[in-house]
Amino acid sequence: MIKVGVLGAKGRMGSLVCQTVQAAEDLELVAEVDVGDSRDPLANCDVVVDFTSPAAVMDNLRWCLRQGRNVVIGTSGFDAARLAQVAGLIADAPVDGGPSAEMLPKVLVVPNFSVGAVLMMKFAEQAARFFDSAEIIELHHAAKVDAPSGTAARTAAMIKAARAEAGLGASPDATTAEAPGARGAMIEEVRVHSVRLAGLVAHQEVLLGGHGETLTIRHDSLDRASFMPGVLRAVRGVASLPAGLTVGLDSLLGLPS
Ligand SMILES: NC(=O)c1ccc[n+]([C@@H]2O[C@H](COP(=O)([O-])OP(=O)(O)OC[C@H]3O[C@@H](n4cnc5c(N)ncnc54)[C@H](O)[C@@H]3O)[C@@H](O)[C@H]2O)c1
Repeated sequence: MIKVGVLGAKGRMGSLVCQTVQAAEDLELVAEVDVGDSRDPLANCDVVVDFTSPAAVMDNLRWCLRQGRNVVIGTSGFDAARLAQVAGLIADAPVDGGPSAEMLPKVLVVPNFSVGAVLMMKFAEQAARFFDSAEIIELHHAAKVDAPSGTAARTAAMIKAARAEAGLGASPDATTAEAPGARGAMIEEVRVHSVRLAGLVAHQEVLLGGHGETLTIRHDSLDRASFMPGVLRAVRGVASLPAGLTVGLDSLLGLPS
């Protein structure tokens, strides 16, 4: 049995993760922690899953690393600077038996647990080098506190890398007069537009254009249940990952990184 603890256990995602872990025969839910609860029960877990908030997650991660726990992070807000900070924290983590790399805890940061969304990002990365222009529209429920989404930021980074490798410059844009925000946020050299609308769950379109054609790659998470197969895969697979930091579900899904 894999012992699992959940941080953010009373939240929308965390509560569903708790139910999903409880329903899995090979997993045991041993800690449900939310604001005001002691984190001590997490020290007995094989893996801790964090679905809290960008403001809370780093303190939780530091605590888990001090306990030598493997961690799966679903919370958003992990840009390049924060990922570098995570890598530094893991390298400094105290380990039993000395500072051997294999003994370091494993931290898996997953910007999106939905398999469809992972594929959408992969397809966008593959297509990016063929088009002059790339922009992202991400659409989420109105209770989401951060913008843009972690998925959009990650997609933008993947598109940026693919465009750079193909020798593409900036997307063409003749805008000289702009109401603040009208052209979205520039994330990793890609325009990202964030929609917050009651009734939505989590959706993203990647728009690619050039040479008299456009390609739109769209993914819709219609229910938070869409994230659970990926969460289970992460919880079961995190121990098999190389020590240190892994970003994304790709390797656990058998996709090339
Ligand atoms: N990676 C993904 O696939 C994915 C999918 C959906 C949401 N998310 C992200 O997951 C996070 C949580 O989303 P949500 O919709 O469940 O939010 P939510 O606000 O419903 O839940 C967050 C929970 O965390 C708790 N919390 C806050 N600080 C805490 C702390 N220090 N310790 C313990 N608990 C704490 C809150 O009380 C709340 O219960 C957000 O960052 C969201 O963007 C990621």
